[in-house]
Amino acid sequence: AAPGGERSSQAELLVASNRGPVSFAIGDDGELLARRGGGGLVSGLAQVVQDTPDGDGELLWVCTALSEADRRAARSAPGGRLDQVGFDTGGASVKMLDLDRVLFDRAYNAVANRTLWFVLHLLHSPSMEPSFGASFRRDWAAYEHYNSAFAEALAEQAAPGACVLVQDYHLTLVPALLRQTRPDLRIAHFSHTPWSPPEYFRMLPDSVAAAILQGMLGADRLGFLAPAWAAAFRDCCAEILGAQIEGDTVSAGGRSVRTSLYPLGVDAPELRDRASHPDVRARAAELRELAGDCRLVVRVDRTELSKNIVRGLDAYREFLRAHPEWHGRVMHLVCAYPSRHDLPEYREYTAAVQRLAAEIEDEFGTDTWLPVHLEISDDFPRSLAAMTLADVLVVNPIRDGMNLVAKEGMVVSAEGAVLVLSREAGACSEMAADALVVNPYDVTATADAMYAGLTMAPAERRARAGRLATVAGALPPRAWFGAQLAEIRSGP
Ligand code: F6P
Repeated sequence: AAPGGERSSQAELLVASNRGPVSFAIGDDGELLARRGGGGLVSGLAQVVQDTPDGDGELLWVCTALSEADRRAARSAPGGRLDQVGFDTGGASVKMLDLDRVLFDRAYNAVANRTLWFVLHLLHSPSMEPSFGASFRRDWAAYEHYNSAFAEALAEQAAPGACVLVQDYHLTLVPALLRQTRPDLRIAHFSHTPWSPPEYFRMLPDSVAAAILQGMLGADRLGFLAPAWAAAFRDCCAEILGAQIEGDTVSAGGRSVRTSLYPLGVDAPELRDRASHPDVRARAAELRELAGDCRLVVRVDRTELSKNIVRGLDAYREFLRAHPEWHGRVMHLVCAYPSRHDLPEYREYTAAVQRLAAEIEDEFGTDTWLPVHLEISDDFPRSLAAMTLADVLVVNPIRDGMNLVAKEGMVVSAEGAVLVLSREAGACSEMAADALVVNPYDVTATADAMYAGLTMAPAERRARAGRLATVAGALPPRAWFGAQLAEIRSGP
């Protein structure tokens, strides 16, 4: 039987993720202000909770308090149940875990973001870093505690036989931990990131690499965004755990677990509707005035190392150097959301982006021409407005689970934007036919693709953009979530 809690207060469907659908800020007069949580995972799932599929009953979202304001909100609600004290959680029932601040910092910043994120996105240089000593062992112990706290909360809140959908690299140990106490549950894990090949993943200490894979294999189903990431995960299981691989199924430790693909897309009608709202139109008008008659090369990213913003700016500089005929006729609009600024690597990266944008401005800017415009802010309507105006949309990550900007941008593009797309983005497995595909490390090839995009014949770019918009809307969040739920419920 399910431990703890009344049956009536338990949920049939649970989602677990580090970042929840709501975050808090403290207003001028000290009150808590609820805001929508950020990031691709939340954008995908937030829509789903507004209309939990018929017959599922209540969906409970378990997440962590990320800031002091979040902790205050979590403490003010009995058992961290934010919805029960009237906070606007966007329609979800939310349990926010108020974990010890130091433990959270070690698990989230030191392990999840500074180590696992780097390994999964190939951001470490193996010859230089990292080195896993005593402080990493201490941080890893915090990550284990953090995963246990989630597993305990889920075990307590889940009704008998409930479905639990665990999200991402923060929570790799949860499936196996949860299975130990609640074998009655149907458990899925979804990776929103890429996965790295075994020769790179093995950079982690052996016990850690094995614990992550075994933890995930505690699930009934494992979901990935693109074929290459699922294949890399299976290769890691074969090489590190000695697992048997048959097709898309991994067998190890007496369990067989299927790896499935769910290439998350965007809700095209809803996004187009959002783009037609007055706030987005007003911002589009401001940006159009700023750009004057210039054609627009646009990018929208978090200030994130894997997004490869510096090489993108370098490529734009090479393009301007190679094509003086474009001086005065093009502007690069860079919208960057501040991200993970608790980590020095991210602060330094943001500074590098700012420096390079300033150098381009110094080299080419005139009294009448702004060659590049960088905005570091989290103004979503402004980014959406930028995407509607794009002539060329640049998405050149070193690696990316999917990259929803590639999809959002093509859906709202009014100009029939040309998509310059990294071959290392998950989105490339669906969008390669009509994008200009680039090697993200090759700055010159990226510069050439910008030029090809700006000079593409209007009929061709519109035809390509139309097909890309169709692909982008193929698996919107509700269908993406519904398909996972159907598979997890369908049994072994
Ligand atoms: O897997 C990617 C992800 O978890 C997405 O939610 C989002 O793109 C990003 O990472 C958010 O990171 P953070 O929650 O650390 O800001």
